[in-house]
Amino acid sequence: MGGTQQVLFDINISIKSGEFVAIMGPSGSGKSTCMNIIGALDTPTSGVYELYDRDVTGLTADELAIVRNEHIGFVFQQFNLLPKRSVLDNVMLPLMYRGLPMSERVSRSREMLRRVGLENFETYLPTQLSGGMKQRVAIARALAGQPKLILADEPTGALDSKMGNEILRFFQQLNRDMGITIIMITHEFDIAKYAHRLIHIRDGRINYDGPVPKNDDAL
Ligand SMILES: Nc1ncnc2c1ncn2[C@@H]1O[C@H](COP(=O)(O)OP(=O)(O)OP(=O)(O)O)[C@@H](O)[C@H]1O
Ligand SMILES: [Mg+2]
Repeated sequence: MGGTQQVLFDINISIKSGEFVAIMGPSGSGKSTCMNIIGALDTPTSGVYELYDRDVTGLTADELAIVRNEHIGFVFQQFNLLPKRSVLDNVMLPLMYRGLPMSERVSRSREMLRRVGLENFETYLPTQLSGGMKQRVAIARALAGQPKLILADEPTGALDSKMGNEILRFFQQLNRDMGITIIMITHEFDIAKYAHRLIHIRDGRINYDGPVPKNDDAL
């Protein structure tokens, strides 16, 4: 009880709007901790975190929740869908707090499902879908709030490589065609290659930050 452990050290990262960044590193190196700060799910014990030119370091949990809902779409390894709610209900979730009329929430969510190719599945339950389809629902949900930034923690970790590649190509398309900033955590160099920039963390420190190299020899 009461023990503390420093996880991240001297982290200095600046990510520009429109980038596609992979954060890579061994298990326990601090990737998720770093992502939790970037995602305004956690605040650092020292230092500053600015999101869209606003210092969010000192915000309360409620204020952080508003910042998250406004700016960020989240995609997780295990999809995090509500199993007993329809696909459409799941996608509509982030719009609950936006004060939009129901008709607008429905039409916007349908449009997102169309974008991920699941327009014919809106009444399905997540349990009736394959892993890749579930992740596409999760991406539609992330997009519904029209975020400028998508954070994905091991988004293909629960998918076979074919479905995983499909999701990664979809991220590339969102980044290229809609200018959405994507920050993705992964263990695997082959997945990081879909990004333009690689940040490699080891023992809580950045040991590489630059264009994705040809191979992972230097990491
Ligand atoms: N809630 C917690 N309480 C105590 N230690 C924690 C907690 N969360 C993370 N840690 C520790 O912080 C370090 C970094 O964890 P983090 O989850 O950021 O790593 P990671 O790079 O995401 O690992 P993985 O690849 O396994 O997901 C690890 O040593 C971990 O044991
Ligand atoms: Mg992690």
